[in-house]
Amino acid sequence: MTGEGTGGGTGELFSEERSADVVAASFAGTPDPRLRQVMTSLVRHLHAFVKDVELTEEEWAFAIDFLTRTGHMSDDVRQEFILLSDVLGVSMLVETINHRSGGTSTESTVLGPFHMVESPRRQLGDDIALDGKGTPCLVSGQVTGPDGEPLAGATVDVWQTNEDGFYDVQQPDVQPPGNLRGLFTADDDGRFWFRSVVPRYYPIPDDGPVGQLLAATGRHPYRPAHLHFIAAAPGHRPVTTHVFVADSPYLDSDAVFGVKESLVRDVPEVDDAARAAEVGLANPFRTLTFDLTLLREGQAPPATQPADAQPTVVRGAPA
Ligand code: BEZ
Ligand code: FE
Repeated sequence: MTGEGTGGGTGELFSEERSADVVAASFAGTPDPRLRQVMTSLVRHLHAFVKDVELTEEEWAFAIDFLTRTGHMSDDVRQEFILLSDVLGVSMLVETINHRSGGTSTESTVLGPFHMVESPRRQLGDDIALDGKGTPCLVSGQVTGPDGEPLAGATVDVWQTNEDGFYDVQQPDVQPPGNLRGLFTADDDGRFWFRSVVPRYYPIPDDGPVGQLLAATGRHPYRPAHLHFIAAAPGHRPVTTHVFVADSPYLDSDAVFGVKESLVRDVPEVDDAARAAEVGLANPFRTLTFDLTLLREGQAPPATQPADAQPTVVRGAPA
């Protein structure tokens, strides 16, 4: 009963006790070593999980149906599987493992489903709030390299919700296309600035299986208010991140676990008619400053987290 080339196993028959070993052995002949490692580990963790919870047949069937519905809900526009990965914290874990900053560059966070591949090009100082609604906000910052050197001509791609908590693509009949998004080119000092409005917290799409999962487990679907950024410069590693509004609800319970302490900023009010006129905003207005640091291409950040990593809580969150 060796069946060489058909299963790659050892010939040992399946048993509850040794299920993971028997199935893992079936992958022993996988030619690609990385695929062999991934499948072996997946089988071991999956079997340990099934044994841990003693999965019933009804639960197994429910899980199959849940995943089937998740697939049916996914297409070019709506990716319910990524949303599932998001609410399980897997997207953030993959993002964090693959973009370790070691404190030397701006931390990254999830891309999310609302980025436009081609954001509208804007000039520094432009107002991206095309519908003129919301609390005016001057957004500015500087893009630098790891030694603080200004990255002249860096590109800064931004997108955010309106004051009702919707992206333009979610409200094509309400918001003008390209509302609250733009692709800027930083000046010779790596500086960028533009006019916008303060973003609002919002729920992730919760009308599908992922929303049902959140509801069944007593979790809310909200993300704290944030402004998305992708900063890029030749010869440097791009950073996909957000800046979070410090006084937003849900900072300590983001549905997709995207918040990092280093990305939270105060958005103070400025009440100064002369300054408002100078920047072209109504008085009073708010200001959001977010500097970004990019690593050089090929510059290696620390390979692992420090062994003494401590839990991180956001300022003001209940202990
Ligand atoms: C977002 O921030 O746009 C987002 C991220 C993950 C899931 C849903 C939305
Ligand atoms: Fe978002």
